[in-house]
Amino acid sequence: MQYSLLLPVLSLLIGADAAETVLGAYIFHRHGDRTPKSLPPANLTTLGYDEVYTSGQYYRSRYLTGSSKIRGINKDIVKLSQLSVTSPVDNVLQSSAVGFLQGLYPPVGETMSTQSLANGSDVQAPMNGYQLIPVNIVSSGTGSEDNGWLQDASGCQNAKLSSNAYFSSAEYNNLLSSTKDLYKSLVPVVNGTFDASDVTFKNAYVVYDLINVAEIHNSSIPSSSVLTPSTLSQIRTLADAHEFGLAYNASDDMRAMPGMQLAGEILKYMNSTITSGTAGSSANKFGIQFGAYASFLSFFGLAGLPKANVDFTGVPDYASSMVFELFTTKDVPTGTFPTTSDLQVRFLFHNGTASNSSEPTAYPLFGGSETAIPWTTFSNSLSKFAVKTTEDWCTKCGNTTGTCAAYAPANNNPSAPNGNGNRNAGGSHMSAAVGGVIGAFVTLAVVLGGLAAFMLLAGFRLVSKQTLAGGRKTPGSEVVEAKA
Ligand SMILES: *[C@@H]1O[C@H](CO)[C@@H](O)[C@H](O)[C@H]1NC(C)=O
Ligand SMILES: *[C@@H]1O[C@H](CO)[C@@H](O)[C@H](O)[C@H]1NC(C)=O
Ligand SMILES: *[C@@H]1O[C@H](CO)[C@@H](O)[C@H](O)[C@H]1NC(C)=O
Ligand SMILES: *[C@@H]1O[C@H](CO)[C@@H](O)[C@H](O)[C@H]1NC(C)=O
Ligand SMILES: *[C@@H]1O[C@H](CO)[C@@H](O)[C@H](O)[C@H]1NC(C)=O
Ligand SMILES: *[C@@H]1O[C@H](CO)[C@@H](O)[C@H](O)[C@H]1NC(C)=O
Ligand SMILES: *[C@@H]1O[C@H](CO)[C@@H](O)[C@H](O)[C@H]1NC(C)=O
Ligand SMILES: *[C@@H]1O[C@H](CO)[C@@H](O)[C@H](O)[C@H]1NC(C)=O
Ligand SMILES: *[C@@H]1O[C@H](CO)[C@@H](O)[C@H](O)[C@H]1NC(C)=O
Repeated sequence: MQYSLLLPVLSLLIGADAAETVLGAYIFHRHGDRTPKSLPPANLTTLGYDEVYTSGQYYRSRYLTGSSKIRGINKDIVKLSQLSVTSPVDNVLQSSAVGFLQGLYPPVGETMSTQSLANGSDVQAPMNGYQLIPVNIVSSGTGSEDNGWLQDASGCQNAKLSSNAYFSSAEYNNLLSSTKDLYKSLVPVVNGTFDASDVTFKNAYVVYDLINVAEIHNSSIPSSSVLTPSTLSQIRTLADAHEFGLAYNASDDMRAMPGMQLAGEILKYMNSTITSGTAGSSANKFGIQFGAYASFLSFFGLAGLPKANVDFTGVPDYASSMVFELFTTKDVPTGTFPTTSDLQVRFLFHNGTASNSSEPTAYPLFGGSETAIPWTTFSNSLSKFAVKTTEDWCTKCGNTTGTCAAYAPANNNPSAPNGNGNRNAGGSHMSAAVGGVIGAFVTLAVVLGGLAAFMLLAGFRLVSKQTLAGGRKTPGSEVVEAKA
């Protein structure tokens, strides 16, 4: 008799649990294991392929077939309008996206992929029903895996200047001098790739990267006795400090441009999930973007994640992913969509490959304590730093040429600071080790540009001085100088 009373209570409890309905998700994903940045072009390795494929399988079981299934999303045969897959132009990132998709929407087999033609014969998709999913291009982060210096991929003038300021901070200079001996001890390990003089904290990430790749792939590293667990851990931590220093500064948001752009892309896509849902369409449910760790670090800083866990100041491992889940705990009758005030967002992160045996963890955003927050709070907080339009990007970055010319101030003087013409390092494959130096030259050029503008405005004339000649190059030439 007691049982019959208990059962309805139990099923109510289960009902309450199951009442959460996932309506959309946005994943930002790092590439899998790759070859080192210092030997471009970097390639995704077989290990890396396997990592992103495994992650794709995991997210398939989470969002396409499992209990957190995104409502209304196709389980087996992909419906392209429900999905947005993006990556910058970069071999490692685009290949990672494709590998991930193979796990997310695996081949459907011969039967499901068979189509009948008008003349009565049947045709089957190649490779057991392999599904074709285009990877679209996002402009931010292009070439990121072949560039040693973090902001090279951003193309944003003011972000580069801000990152360069890291090289004159006390924090940087203290580490540069206190780690001299440590890096010196590493010279015999990496002198096949780097000049001894480049093996310092200044190049902490590329040095770490080369050694990390060798530790994974090369069983015969020269002078490997130097690489004790303690040394390896130190160079990793130093690389983390270096990259976080370049990616984020609490008193100077400009440095975090990759994170601001990512925030804009997340907001735009999740907004389109809600807009389509409200309009009764089944489009735009699942956004997946592949990108570099720079965007992770900048975003972590902007979103206050180091307050939730100090690990968020470290470079995420290969194939790491962060997810923004859009869900509601209200009943959602078929054919309806919740009102905006009933929508919530949950942030999850997994350091390294996510899988059934190691799932992402939820963390509170913006220094809060709740792991689920109302959509409106999420959207307002992200909007504070999100860059959503080209105009916003151009204005913040101080770019005024190319696509940005349309937004340049009317009386823009092309030789003024930020007026640009700094044909910079972008696509050229300089040695990774000197990336920061190029940045430094850009700073110098802008300072000099500022001086030129001042003289122009104030009617001063430069009275010769050969000593200035070294610096008085047109902003285009400092790159050539730095490359040499
Ligand atoms: C990456 O692959 C290309 C050919 O596909 C090769 O030329 C290059 O050396 C590879 N890079 C590394 C670091 O192995
Ligand atoms: C039917 O059309 C397809 C495509 O045009 C062609 O490859 C196939 O040979 C045709 N089958 C027959 C039986 O004519
Ligand atoms: C952060 O920015 C502030 C203000 O621009 C600057 O004083 C400080 O040195 C910067 N810190 C680092 C580590 O770059
Ligand atoms: C690297 O350092 C080792 C040990 O000092 C030396 O034997 C070797 O010749 C160096 N290699 C290069 C390419 O400089
Ligand atoms: C392994 O390290 C040795 C010594 O530096 C180098 O010659 C070789 O090319 C490396 N092999 C791979 C696969 O990276
Ligand atoms: C989506 O974006 C539009 C345009 O910025 C805005 O008016 C609308 O309120 C947003 N919708 C939601 C649900 O945030
Ligand atoms: C990821 O793990 C590495 C150690 O493998 C750590 O250094 C780093 O801080 C972690 N990053 C995040 C974002 O959790
Ligand atoms: C992960 O778990 C789900 C069910 O929880 C299962 O359907 C799926 O096959 C598992 N995936 C792998 C790769 O083991
Ligand atoms: C912005 O300016 C920088 C430096 O001048 C340049 O390298 C970059 O290509 C510009 N980006 C765009 C989109 O105009």
